[in-house]
Amino acid sequence: MMRYHRCLSAIITLLGTISLVSAVEFSSYAPIYANCPHNQQWLRPAKGLSTQEEAWVRERKSVVANGLESYLQELNISGLDVHKLISEMKKGSNIPTISMAISGGGWGSGLTATGALRAFDARFPDAVKQKTGGLLQSLTYLSGLSGGAWPVMSLATNDFPSINDMVASWHTEIDRFNNPPNNSRYAGNFSTLFYDVADKLEAGFNVSVTDFLGRDFGYEFLPQPRAGLNATLSGIANLPHFKNHSMPMPMFQANRLTYDDVEFFGVKVPYYNSSIFEMTPFDFILGVAAAAFNFWYVEAKSNGSVGSFSKRSLALTDAAMLSRRAAQFPAENALAIWNGFEEIFNLTLDEAMYPSVPNPFAGTNPAESEALQLTDGSETGQSIAYWGLIQPARKSDFIITWDNDQDQAPYSWNNGTNIYNTYIQARRHGLPFPEIPPPATFIKRNYTNQPVFFGCDTKYTTTHSLSSPIVLYLANSPYSAYTNFTWFQSKYTPVQMHGILVNGFDVVTQGNGTLDSQWSQCLGCAAIDRSLSKMSMKRPQQCEKCLEKYCWDGTYEDGADIPVVDLPLKLAPNVSYAEWNASHPWV
Ligand SMILES: *[C@@H]1O[C@H](CO)[C@@H](O)[C@H](O)[C@H]1NC(C)=O
Ligand SMILES: *[C@@H]1O[C@H](CO)[C@@H](O)[C@H](O)[C@H]1NC(C)=O
Ligand SMILES: *[C@@H]1O[C@H](CO)[C@@H](O)[C@H](O)[C@H]1NC(C)=O
Ligand SMILES: *[C@@H]1O[C@H](CO)[C@@H](O)[C@H](O)[C@H]1NC(C)=O
Ligand SMILES: *[C@@H]1O[C@H](CO)[C@@H](O)[C@H](O)[C@H]1NC(C)=O
Ligand SMILES: *[C@@H]1O[C@H](CO)[C@@H](O)[C@H](O)[C@H]1NC(C)=O
Ligand SMILES: *[C@@H]1O[C@H](CO)[C@@H](O)[C@H](O)[C@H]1NC(C)=O
Ligand SMILES: *[C@@H]1O[C@H](CO)[C@@H](O)[C@H](O)[C@H]1NC(C)=O
Ligand SMILES: *[C@@H]1O[C@H](CO)[C@@H](O)[C@H](O)[C@H]1NC(C)=O
Ligand SMILES: *[C@@H]1O[C@H](CO)[C@@H](O)[C@H](O)[C@H]1NC(C)=O
Ligand SMILES: *[C@@H]1O[C@H](CO)[C@@H](O)[C@H](O)[C@H]1NC(C)=O
Ligand SMILES: *[C@@H]1O[C@H](CO)[C@@H](O)[C@H](O)[C@H]1NC(C)=O
Repeated sequence: MMRYHRCLSAIITLLGTISLVSAVEFSSYAPIYANCPHNQQWLRPAKGLSTQEEAWVRERKSVVANGLESYLQELNISGLDVHKLISEMKKGSNIPTISMAISGGGWGSGLTATGALRAFDARFPDAVKQKTGGLLQSLTYLSGLSGGAWPVMSLATNDFPSINDMVASWHTEIDRFNNPPNNSRYAGNFSTLFYDVADKLEAGFNVSVTDFLGRDFGYEFLPQPRAGLNATLSGIANLPHFKNHSMPMPMFQANRLTYDDVEFFGVKVPYYNSSIFEMTPFDFILGVAAAAFNFWYVEAKSNGSVGSFSKRSLALTDAAMLSRRAAQFPAENALAIWNGFEEIFNLTLDEAMYPSVPNPFAGTNPAESEALQLTDGSETGQSIAYWGLIQPARKSDFIITWDNDQDQAPYSWNNGTNIYNTYIQARRHGLPFPEIPPPATFIKRNYTNQPVFFGCDTKYTTTHSLSSPIVLYLANSPYSAYTNFTWFQSKYTPVQMHGILVNGFDVVTQGNGTLDSQWSQCLGCAAIDRSLSKMSMKRPQQCEKCLEKYCWDGTYEDGADIPVVDLPLKLAPNVSYAEWNASHPWV
């Protein structure tokens, strides 16, 4: 048994399906046993990065240097000698570690974040024209959880296609959540999905609802054949763009459940302080990035009074742990999937609800049992995938955030609660992160629909030093489209998808510069600011002005009279939601 645990070495990704590594192409979802590779380090002290990651990042930085140079050249920041800067950076190993973190929030987050990614892609000429294209090529890590893990996984397992090509391979118009009528290479009907799960169960492995969801979403996001049957997280390390360091390293986050977690309707929910597991192609355990079924179940059982997934406070009392999100997942869908597991597989709630996987740490101390129960990365209340990025060994300089967790009732915009929660936990654990004000300041200062940088002045960081990154906070908000569709809306016409992509583009480029013609330069200024400071180089004057304008100044708004977050179209404030929705219905 122990040997088997140590040999567990590769993972089918996305939502938590498990497989053993193999060179053969899979024809079934059932995992197969394979020989352990030689010279594999299975466990190591948590003292720093793995040697593989360290070596990969070093090489990635030289590719980033080229990407960053072209990106900065386009910006034409006055007073910045880009060529000189890059060669100084190379000399002193000061090429910045730039990353992007995407929040949970189901389809809402997965799709709107894709709009942002597209605006950062140097392979999209419109993005280069707007001078934001190139940041994707400058990222060292791209991190996602829950719905935010979907584009990250799709991009990586498909070997870093352009964002436009990636979207073209999706079929967002197929509703995968309501038993698709057509069984095709683009969608599996529910009986096909249950047969896949049965194959794994018959082969002697534990299964859970997460397997079902993983197969379901695999048809959208994973490469052929058969909805990613041969795609593994560790397999990404063998893909050409990863091998030659020309894609960012994908990273995913999940939370741990333990025997003493609180239960709602017989279902466990992790405490805010539960362990967070990160997964990369090098250091991983399992891809259970989006496995919030426990929350959907609790929500259904409570008639929506508790459990809206990922919406929770850091409060310690059980009753306060789960707070409601504006829109609820349809109870009948959650219960129908659960009933299938109960009836077809005769599993208990505890077995079916969360992926239970071989614990790679089993035996390292008495508390580490054979199985590890994991759950959705959003469930500790930090629904933006920052935690891996702010581990000191990763030395983050600049983190771009895409938040669309739909925090704010009743209209499902955002209020900064997730980035604030990460700040609270980072401070508690002494991890480098900017100081973040509570949601009242986000709402009153309009950070819910305009870009803001945190941590520019190291005074406003947890470490009071350059080791804390500058964080750009971008939230899903209406610029050219009202993209506050519910997180569980599970199909989108090509026209809607285009609207989502353009809206994301408009957020990232500030309406192609119409809201501020200097914005793209300001973004570039923030991306290199830590490196400039580390090399004791002077900020160009244009950058001084930019940071003055876009950095949070360390002051707070009070919590009284918080206005309703009811946002107009930023690029067409006179078009009301009703008018717009009459010609652009989402549902
Ligand atoms: C760069 O900016 C300078 C002024 O600061 C301007 O003269 C020049 O035309 C710009 N170059 C490009 C390629 O935009
Ligand atoms: C299912 O197939 C029919 C007939 O080929 C087609 O018209 C329909 O669009 C398909 N539906 C989906 C959801 O793929
Ligand atoms: C699902 O697809 C399979 C394989 O094509 C087919 O045999 C089955 O009838 C379909 N089931 C339903 C409920 O549509
Ligand atoms: C999966 O199989 C396809 C085609 O057989 C192959 O091109 C691809 O590299 C494989 N992917 C992984 C992750 O092994
Ligand atoms: C990396 O590999 C890809 C795929 O083979 C290739 O298109 C790209 O040019 C390579 N990039 C670098 C920097 O070598
Ligand atoms: C996590 O929080 C719970 C509830 O406050 C507490 O009982 C538990 O001891 C904490 N666990 C750790 C590891 O701090
Ligand atoms: C279902 O599982 C229970 C307990 O694990 C067992 O007692 C029962 O016989 C099983 N039912 C069927 C139909 O297999
Ligand atoms: C599989 O499930 C059983 C029953 O819930 C549990 O005792 C066992 O530890 C699990 N095994 C793994 C590898 O998760
Ligand atoms: C922000 O969102 C959280 C999560 O939905 C909610 O609990 C909180 O009340 C909101 N904060 C404010 C100030 O509205
Ligand atoms: C926030 O936006 C509203 C509407 O555009 C505007 O009236 C208000 O002045 C802005 N508040 C701040 C602090 O920028
Ligand atoms: C900005 O440019 C994009 C891409 O070219 C376009 O789709 C969008 O409509 C433009 N937005 C504005 C406000 O001009
Ligand atoms: C979307 O946002 C607009 C503006 O805040 C609001 O009028 C509309 O009701 C929201 N739609 C949903 C589904 O919440």
